[in-house]
Amino acid sequence: MIFKSSTTAVPETPAVPRHIAIIMDGNGRWATKRLLPRVAGHVKGVEAVRGVVEACALRGIDYLTLFAFSSENWRRPEEEVSLLMRLFVTALEREVSKMHANNIRLKVVGDLSRFDSKLQEMIANAERKTANNTRLTVTVCANYGGRWDIMQATNKMIAANPGVTAFTEEMLAPHLAMAYAPEPDLFIRTGGEERISNFLLWQLAYSELYFTDTFWPDFSSDTLDAAIASYQKRERRFGQTGDQVAKKKTEC
Ligand code: IPE
Ligand code: IPE
Ligand code: MG
Repeated sequence: MIFKSSTTAVPETPAVPRHIAIIMDGNGRWATKRLLPRVAGHVKGVEAVRGVVEACALRGIDYLTLFAFSSENWRRPEEEVSLLMRLFVTALEREVSKMHANNIRLKVVGDLSRFDSKLQEMIANAERKTANNTRLTVTVCANYGGRWDIMQATNKMIAANPGVTAFTEEMLAPHLAMAYAPEPDLFIRTGGEERISNFLLWQLAYSELYFTDTFWPDFSSDTLDAAIASYQKRERRFGQTGDQVAKKKTEC
């Protein structure tokens, strides 16, 4: 299925967001506040992931996208990076069968070539196993960067169009890592920072942004519901006037 791009057409504005994208931030500070090592925050963060996946499935969300490791997170101390990799492996070992049993499709996007071959193989197996599930698509962004995504899509687009020197958005979009999903309706960032940190730069063009001070390990279905309630109060105009949006609503 090809989804409408927010810049080339006015997309629908679903009452319940069809796609929620989250920057899961604040694990380290959650731990530090409790005088625990940062790793304790990451461990607790994995539990919060389990909770949000379940909550999204129950609320009829179609796509949940989670920023787990950015292309810039390699700059962290080596022990923290290797611990995050180990946590990723154990989370896959423990969660994939459960996700499959719950009809959840798992996708992992990012430059996976930098991960060790065992992890790459586990990811490929998990994606293959859950590929036909239809209830909810959970995308984990790992070694992902918005600029990486735009550049890899650009390179693929050029290779697919030999001799062409002028390109359109429609030519680029199918090569983006998440071309299988509509653009996020709702973006959430926990942990109090109000920045995009090189997440889905292209896809967030018209997403509603929601920032909360809650640290990721404390994220609950109540936090999710507060974000959805905030989204439901917004008027999504996509460049139009408020009157135009209101008129379209009464026509529907
Ligand atoms: C988010 O939490 C998890 C990852 C980036 C892997 P942080 O580890 O960034 O937590 P803070 O921002 O230092 O509190
Ligand atoms: C963004 O969080 C990346 C992830 C949550 C995976 P960071 O903690 O890395 O972001 P900055 O460094 O504060 O911008
Ligand atoms: Mg952080």
